[in-house]
Formats: sequence, structure tokens, C-alpha cells
Amino acid sequence: MKAVDVGGELRRRIVERGPITFAEFMDVVLYWPNGGYYSTRAALGAQGDFYTAPLTHPVFGALLAAQLAQMWRVMGSPQPFWVLEPGAGTGTLGRDIARYAAGADPAFAAALRHVGVDVRAVAGGVRSDHLPFRGVRGVVLANELLDAMPVHRVTVAGGELRELFVGLDGGGGFEERVGEPSTPALAQRLDALGVELAEGHRAEINLGLDAWCLDVADALDEGYVLVIDYGHEAAAYYDAARRAGTLRCYAGHTLNMDPYRDPGAQDISVHVELTSLRKAAEAAGFSFVGSASQAGFLRGLGFEEYRADVVARRGIAPRVRTANLRALDTLVAPDGMGAFCVLAFGVGVPAAREGLDGFAARASRTPGGPRLSAPLATAEHMPLGPAPEPAMPTWEELTR
Ligand SMILES: C[S@@+](CC[C@H](N)C(=O)[O-])C[C@H]1O[C@@H](n2cnc3c(N)ncnc32)[C@H](O)[C@@H]1O
Repeated sequence: MKAVDVGGELRRRIVERGPITFAEFMDVVLYWPNGGYYSTRAALGAQGDFYTAPLTHPVFGALLAAQLAQMWRVMGSPQPFWVLEPGAGTGTLGRDIARYAAGADPAFAAALRHVGVDVRAVAGGVRSDHLPFRGVRGVVLANELLDAMPVHRVTVAGGELRELFVGLDGGGGFEERVGEPSTPALAQRLDALGVELAEGHRAEINLGLDAWCLDVADALDEGYVLVIDYGHEAAAYYDAARRAGTLRCYAGHTLNMDPYRDPGAQDISVHVELTSLRKAAEAAGFSFVGSASQAGFLRGLGFEEYRADVVARRGIAPRVRTANLRALDTLVAPDGMGAFCVLAFGVGVPAAREGLDGFAARASRTPGGPRLSAPLATAEHMPLGPAPEPAMPTWEELTR
């Protein structure tokens, strides 16, 4: 039987081999070339299913450019300075970084070489599921990449760790099956974290983190890795308060919890378990440099000055001002994107946060600097008119 769509491909695999792991299901649903969600759909932005920070407002890219310029200076201003961006998506972040790099530092802008990498074609970038580069000096920047990586799902039944597989029901639909773990690596991961799940607790485990960090280490000789994603340390990630796990599905800017609905037509994502990410990065040779909430990171780099500039800007229509302020506030919303985590790792660079304002843990940039002129949203960003609100988790979900 020749599979023609994602559902057909999944059924073929299950009929041939029996129930498949959730990680395999998620990999096919999101990345199978012939109909996988990210392979074929415009997932992001107003016409897609959800917003990310780069698509929300260009101030995100402008402030990241400021952070990258500082990293470049800490590294002794190398020429060229590479910024590799796996999971570049629409390419908007790379374009904004390039657009606003000169505002951060004209010499940095001249040294900057940005390359977007994605499993789907990205304008001016590279199509790949890994980083096909070696000997890089610069930064690897991953915004909302790790939350889109396939994960295994586990639970505890009868006091034993079990894995959640995907099988077929009598009508050919997908259904969950509970079975022996497909690999000892699942129990080993939880043991290494000192985590014991309670009976009935469901949780996700990303076994791909180690390989991802090694891939980054192979590419990057000297510089920083910046990871931005919604995540928690292991203790909170596997806390009984999250006993349903962190899996979320998005379609048409609406959230649901059913990964088996319309395979290939909706996004599936999970929060990132940060303790294992840190361990994987350290095992791959990186030092931990610092972490901040997205709100703290952006504020440390000058977010409030940009916002004040939009408030005071002359000659813009009230509608434009309101829309820009709404998008800006979305970037730092404490119950949404503002609570995302920004992590920095380094190799061959100082393991200190010094000189990196995004990690300086202060409420806003040092006063007295030049007043910043904020970029305003373009057609690439959140629309200025009535728009779907970003599909952010609700406060109940975040605190569950
Ligand atoms: C949630 S989207 C984020 C896109 C973009 N970073 C942003 O913030 O707007 C995740 C992106 O990662 C890409 N992706 C997933 N796995 C990847 C991999 N192994 N290598 C490169 N890109 C990948 C997907 O195709 C998708 O474009």
C-alpha cells in the first residue's frame, strides 16, 4: 500500500510494525515530507495557526541584534560573525536582526552573517534538519525550535514506568496504547533527574536534546548558543501540578489538547525541560552562561525605552500606536511570552554574563544612554487591524 497522506503513512507504519512511539507519531505528523505540518503548511503568523515572538513585533529582532552585538564585542569583534538560526521558520527574525543590526552597532552590522536553517525552505537560508557547518565563530540562535522536537510520552501504571504508544482503533482512527518503554533511555533520563512520577502522571521526555547539542557543538568552535522557549526546570516540569503533561496543539489560533485530531493539519508542541537541556549542553562541551525570562531579557536590552518611544512618537495614527503597543506588550506578557526562558551557553568565551545586558538581571537598561527609536510593525508582523490574538497558553494551563 502506497501512503498518500500523513494519516495513511501513520496507518501503514502501525499495521506493519504495531503501535508506534509518540515521538515517531509526532515526527511524521510534523515533518513527514508529503504532508507533515511543518513541511507543507504556513504555520506561523496571521494566516497560520500561531504567533511567535519574531512575528509579533520587530522590537524582538532589534533587541536580539543588540544582544548579538554585545556577544560579538565580548568575543573580540570577529570578522565575519556568524549567526546560525536553526528553525528559522518564516525567516522574519533573521531579516529583523539584519535590518536593525546597524542601530545596535554599525561595525557589528558589517561583520554579521546570518543564516537561517529549517527543515522547510527558508528565503536566503539552508534547508536541513541539522547544522551543516563547521568551524563557526558566532552564535547559534534557536527561538521556539526545541518545543517542536518530537517527544516520547510516559506514564506510571501499577507502580511501573510505561510508555504511551499510538495504535489503531477498530475504525482506523488513532488511539493511545500503554506499553513497556521502547527504550531504557526513558527511565534513565528520569533517574538522572531524580524524578519519580506518581501513578497516572503523564509526562513528555525529549530524547533528542543530546543529539541537538552535539550537532550545535560540531558546528560552533567559538561563541554562544541562545535558546528561547517556554520551559521549566525538571522539578517543576515533572511536578504533580503538571500531571497531564505539557503537550499542546494549535490550529487556527485556537488551542486544543488532542494530538490525534486531523494529523498534519495542526501544530503539536511541548514545553522544554530545561535541566536536561543544560546537562546535554554541558556534556557537549558548553558552559552555562546565564538565563532570564524573555521579559527580563528584553527589558535588560532596552525594551522600555522602545515602548516609551512608541507612546511618545509623533505623526502616527492612534490605531497604529495602539496596535504596536499591543504587540509590544505581548512580547513581555507575564502569563505568556514574557515568561519564556532565554538560556545562553558558551564555548571558548567567558562563562560570565558580563557585558551581556539581556542577562544582567535588572529591570531596564542603564538610564542615560541615547534614546532609542523603535521600529514599527511591518506587514511581516502581527497585523495592525483586528487580528487573532496570539495562541498563548492560558494562565490556568501555565499554573497547572
Ligand atoms: C515553532 S516554529 C518557530 C519558527 C521561528 N523560529 C519563529 O520563532 O518564528 C519551529 C520551526 O522549527 C523548524 N524545525 C523543526 N525541527 C527542525 C530541525 N531539526 N532543524 C531545523 N528546523 C527545524 C520547523 O520547521 C519550524 O519552522
